[in-house]
Amino acid sequence: MKFSDQVVWITGASSGVGEALARACAREGARLVLSSRRPEELERVRRTCDRPAEHLVVPLDLTRHETFPAAVGEVLARRGRIDVLVNNGGVSQRALAADATLEVERALMEVDYFGPVALTKAVLPAMRARHAGRIVVVSSVMGYVGTPGRSTYAAAKHALHGYFDSLRAEVWREGIGVTLVCPGYVKTAVSDNAVGPRGEKHGQTDGTHLTGISAEKCAAAILRAVASGREEIYVGREAYAIYVKRFLPWLYSRVVRRMKFSVSQQ
Ligand SMILES: NC(=O)c1ccc[n+]([C@@H]2O[C@H](COP(=O)([O-])OP(=O)(O)OC[C@H]3O[C@@H](n4cnc5c(N)ncnc54)[C@H](OP(=O)(O)O)[C@@H]3O)[C@@H](O)[C@H]2O)c1
Repeated sequence: MKFSDQVVWITGASSGVGEALARACAREGARLVLSSRRPEELERVRRTCDRPAEHLVVPLDLTRHETFPAAVGEVLARRGRIDVLVNNGGVSQRALAADATLEVERALMEVDYFGPVALTKAVLPAMRARHAGRIVVVSSVMGYVGTPGRSTYAAAKHALHGYFDSLRAEVWREGIGVTLVCPGYVKTAVSDNAVGPRGEKHGQTDGTHLTGISAEKCAAAILRAVASGREEIYVGREAYAIYVKRFLPWLYSRVVRRMKFSVSQQ
């Protein structure tokens, strides 16, 4: 697939992976739809992309599913079609399972799982009508493994795999593809924006993310995957954990239980 003139809708476009992906897609000639909760940040991203006048800013809160049909209607009215939907927006977690309140866990699931599902449901009819389209889902290595302090985040990312693997098998005959992206650590604000046991912001960039790959490198991998119609990609060093868990689960279990997570180290 070539990106030139393709309408690419990216959620979580105000920061990190989504922002880098927006710039990369714009360089390839895509016409972007940029979504997240913060319109001023989306405007900043739009202005700094190639051909800013061709891109739309459509603010969207991933927890407000009732607003999605109107957002899709706006995009279709102004652009005529949606070629690629990138479900990238999300929030991570820094809380022990025993400490996280159920309300916070539900809130995380709303953003990280139900948000992408609901937006995909809203976009699908237009793709099915054209017998074309690609749904991209930015999951994580945590979509395959669990580590201390990330129980709900890992659960949401695992859930995305079950849902979108099933969806892929349902819609391929209609010309619609699904690409799951599983990055390891990427140097973004994700740990700063992660939520603690009672929903408070973590507010610091963890060392693991400081030494992660750049958002640009992650975006380039996503671009290649979409261009070549890949069903799933692993991005970054930590992908080895997926193979260890799959083929040597006893070893994974031994290693992961030694990983430290305490409130002070959050
Ligand atoms: N960085 C990593 O190491 C890493 C690794 C694996 C997977 N990922 C995944 O990559 C994706 C992007 O994360 P990132 O690393 O780029 O983190 P980030 O810099 O914190 O960006 C997160 C994005 O999600 C948006 N967002 C958060 N809550 C939202 C909500 N309720 N409604 C709409 N948008 C919302 C944010 O925009 P607003 O605040 O403007 O709403 C922001 O644009 C996430 O799905 C994350 O799970 C990241």
